[in-house]
Amino acid sequence: MSVHSESRRITVATLASMRREGEKIVSLTAYDAAFARLADAAGVDVILVGDSLGMVVQGRENTVGVTMDEMVYHTLLAARGRSRALLVADLPFLSCADPAQALANAGRLMQEGGADVVKLEGGAAQAEVVERLSVNGVPVCAHLGLRPQFVHKLGGYRVQGREAEAAKTLREDARALEEAGAELMVLECVPAALAEEITQASGIPVIGIGAGAACDGQVLVLHDVLGITPGRPPRFARNFMPGHDSLLAALQAYAAAVRDGSFPTAEEAF
Ligand code: KIV
Repeated sequence: MSVHSESRRITVATLASMRREGEKIVSLTAYDAAFARLADAAGVDVILVGDSLGMVVQGRENTVGVTMDEMVYHTLLAARGRSRALLVADLPFLSCADPAQALANAGRLMQEGGADVVKLEGGAAQAEVVERLSVNGVPVCAHLGLRPQFVHKLGGYRVQGREAEAAKTLREDARALEEAGAELMVLECVPAALAEEITQASGIPVIGIGAGAACDGQVLVLHDVLGITPGRPPRFARNFMPGHDSLLAALQAYAAAVRDGSFPTAEEAF
């Protein structure tokens, strides 16, 4: 029986077994109880309380201003709405600059917010932080490729890993974070061929966003899936509302498209 037809709570072990079985992992952001409940009802496997909430919920220009208190609050709301999905919550900008700070803040997301897993942006330089979290029982999702918290260093949002040197660094980062104990990885805005290579070399599930169809799963921002993001949507996103008469039907269509491999298409990748 496929995992998505079971009602048992999804764990990191479930995701590892889905990767082994070649069953696609469906992930979506949600920031409150109502949408977490809807995502769960639609069969989403992983609900991500992303710091993208700074942009799509709070109307900020980027994610840099999102605070720990805000992440704990939204994680708690989402935790009240989910029943089956794994709940992953973001460590926001400057909340995990060293292992002790990361441990304290991850503790808040799990103990006050109810998260199952914490996600952090960073490459091999974050391996020490990931290791400290992991040895203390905190499951970690590493976020590589485009890291929106680095927007001021990057000068904008661009595809990462196009040049040979950058691709090599990405491969090394992925390996270092897995070795440090990460249980899961998000790859954002990476050329599809590189994402496929990293996914194949990985021993942990890789969830892509703008990283092509070969990843073990896909994640999108809820507001993009519902077509309510202001301005031009990112090329890798798809609005699933057209042709559906309810939010639930649109989220079910997203989950089905990830599972049957019809999302993303080559045009929705780099
Ligand atoms: O903050 C977020 O929503 C994310 C996803 C875009 C992966 O990190």
